Amino acid sequence: MMNCLQSWPEPVVRVQSLSESGIRAIPERYIKPPSDRPGFEKQEHVDIPVVDLKNLFSHDHTLHEETLKLISSACKEWGFFQAVNHGISHELMKRTREVWREFFNLPLEVKQEYANAPTTYEGYGSRLGVQKGAILDWSDYFFLHYLPVYLRNPSKWPSLPSSCRDLISEYGAEVEKLCGRLLKAMSISLGLKEDYLQNAFGGEDIGACLRVNFYPKCPQPDLTLGLSSHSDPGGLTLLLPDHDVAGLQVRKNGKWITVKPVPNAFIVNVGDQIQVMSNAIYKSVEHRVIVNSAKDRVSLAFFYNPKSDLLIEPAKELVSEDRPALYSPMTFDEYRLYIRTYGPCGKTQVEFSESNR
Ligand code: OGA
Ligand code: NI
Repeated sequence: MMNCLQSWPEPVVRVQSLSESGIRAIPERYIKPPSDRPGFEKQEHVDIPVVDLKNLFSHDHTLHEETLKLISSACKEWGFFQAVNHGISHELMKRTREVWREFFNLPLEVKQEYANAPTTYEGYGSRLGVQKGAILDWSDYFFLHYLPVYLRNPSKWPSLPSSCRDLISEYGAEVEKLCGRLLKAMSISLGLKEDYLQNAFGGEDIGACLRVNFYPKCPQPDLTLGLSSHSDPGGLTLLLPDHDVAGLQVRKNGKWITVKPVPNAFIVNVGDQIQVMSNAIYKSVEHRVIVNSAKDRVSLAFFYNPKSDLLIEPAKELVSEDRPALYSPMTFDEYRLYIRTYGPCGKTQVEFSESNR
């Protein structure tokens, strides 16, 4: 399997270049089967929960407990919530998103210097998965390693715009702290010791990556998706969405819900590894991205992940005779190979590991 991950199976086409070429019809490779298209089902008009983090570590016991309860029910029922009063500077969020928009608006030759390969995915990319003939998503992205520190290589980060590298570091340090706080809150609300999840993820050696998604304008948004349905393979995701363009959809009771971004909020979601560790008490939920013909969209997904060679398994405290372990131990490295080979495909993987335990 490793062999097929050395290079892309077909010449890489930048979706942004396609979009800017002025085509009126999208190439066949981006046309989804009817049941995957955005308009296939009626839209449901509800919102994902919004959680105010102001009192997360308040000394007032009641307020602290209330916040934990909200997080817990969001993670059980939605696998998603929007976090406000998270403590990260709104100005920093805005500057970081804008610097990435500027990066994507640089000439193609500049971006091509960072062209990625499926061996590490690091750099400028336009597809996920290496299956020849796969139907592709309407987006480009930039993927980089932030943690562990020995994998961090700023020389692989964009040198232009000139503030980009510093902003990645500054933003990364802040979101890393927030992820640590959220992991604590999740541990406590699962009835585990507050450092349980962090330690099980590798403590100081935890992994983190940033994927900046760029969804160009699309002349036929009803036929395609910006990002196909998937659940995030890692631990916890902190998404900074575009401030005025919606696009993210979350699966709830078999229907797709479009998230309306709350100003200056982060969208938090549970990844597959937390579903595994919590023995499916917390859910990693399917989501996808739709595109539109009027505006491009930039989003930053910060993935907070287990150290790649640790065995991840349900917490002993959450396994009992009544609730046996639903998953057998697997390293994140092994787990991640699936999406890196087959691309985004719903929740097939975590379900597969359930049925094969
Ligand atoms: C992702 C993701 C959603 C978005 O990068 O895994 O789900 O809104 N992104 O870009
Ligand atoms: Ni995702």
